[in-house]
Amino acid sequence: MDWTLFTGKMLDWYRGAARVLPWRENRDPYRIWVSEIMLQQTRVDTVIPYYNRFMETFPCVEALANADETALLKHWEGLGYYTRARNLQKAAKMIMETYQGIFPERFEDVRKLPGIGDYTAGAICSIAFEQPTPAVDGNVLRVLSRLTADDSDVMKPETRKQYTLRLQEIYPAEGRGDFTQSLMELGALICLPGTPKCTDCPVQTLCLAYTKGASERYPVKTPKKEKKVERLTVFLISDGKHLAISKREQGLLSNMWQFPNVSGWLSTDAAREEMGKMGYSATQICDCGRMKHIFTHIEWQMQVYHCTVNKVEAPYLTDEITLPTAFRKLLQVEQEKE
Ligand code: ADE
Ligand code: SF4
Repeated sequence: MDWTLFTGKMLDWYRGAARVLPWRENRDPYRIWVSEIMLQQTRVDTVIPYYNRFMETFPCVEALANADETALLKHWEGLGYYTRARNLQKAAKMIMETYQGIFPERFEDVRKLPGIGDYTAGAICSIAFEQPTPAVDGNVLRVLSRLTADDSDVMKPETRKQYTLRLQEIYPAEGRGDFTQSLMELGALICLPGTPKCTDCPVQTLCLAYTKGASERYPVKTPKKEKKVERLTVFLISDGKHLAISKREQGLLSNMWQFPNVSGWLSTDAAREEMGKMGYSATQICDCGRMKHIFTHIEWQMQVYHCTVNKVEAPYLTDEITLPTAFRKLLQVEQEKE
C-alpha cells in the first residue's frame, strides 16, 4: 500500500466533500471536545441541534464549569447516556483548576480528563492541535479493514491497537486534523456499514477489498453478544394534574429522575398491591401495554400501568425535570389517557 498516495487522496477528497458541520467552523478545542462527546453515542443529524443549543448556553470551559446541573442535564435531555454530561462538567472544572481554564494540548493530559478515552483524545489532539494522534472508532476500523483486506477481528482491542500504530506512522505533515476527519467522513458517507459506495470512493484504486471484489466480506467481526433483556413494571401515577416521579438510586441511569417502577412484570392485582406499598390507593388502574427501550447493552421491556389517585405527592414531573427518554416516551401513553 502506498500510504503517502492514500493520505494525499484522502485530504483532497475531504477538502472538497466534507459536510459543513457546526463543530468544523473553527479549531476551538472546547467546541471540538463537546462535539466528540456528543457524537460518541449519537448520530450527527441528532447531535446538530443539541450542539448548537449547548454552545449558545455554555460557550466556553468556564461557562460549563459553572453551569447549574439541572440546566446542564436539560440541555442533554433526549441525547441519553447522561454520564457524558456529568463527565463534561467534571472535566471542565478540572480544566479550570488544573489548567487555568485553558484546554490542555498534550495527549496524556487530555486522555486523563473524565469521559475521554483514546478515541476522543486522539480526535481532539489532531483536530484542534494538529497532532498525529489517530482517532479509531467503528467507522475508521471498517475503512482500514476493507482498505487492507485485513482478516483480523475488528472487535478485538489488538486490531484497534495495530490500526492506531499504522495510522501514527502515516500521518501527513500538514492537514492532520483534516486527515483524521477524512477517515471518519469516508466511513460516514462512502465506506458505509452495509454496502459501501465504492463507485464514489476516492481511494478505490488503492483498496484491496475492492480490488478483490470482496468489500462486503470486511470488516471481520465476532458476532455481538445478545442484548440482556430486563423486564420492569412502570407506574404512571396521576391525579389529573401531576405525575409522580422518583429518583433512581443505582445502576443504569442512576441519579436520574424516573417514573416509579419495580423489576419484573406485575399483573394488575400485583400492581395495585405495589401501589399500596408506595402509599397510594388507586381509584383506577389501566393496563397500557408494553413498551421497549433499547440501550447499548440492555433492553428494557416495560409493562406500563396508568394509575389514577386522588392526590400525587411531590416530587412530580415539571418542565425543569430532565426525564430520560426511556421514561419520557411513556408520556405518550399518559397523553392518550387525557
Ligand atoms: N463522528 C465522530 N467525530 C466526528 C466528527 N468530528 N465529524 C463527523 N462525525 C464524527
Ligand atoms: Fe470502502 Fe469501497 Fe472505498 Fe474500499 S473502495 S475503501 S470498500 S468504499
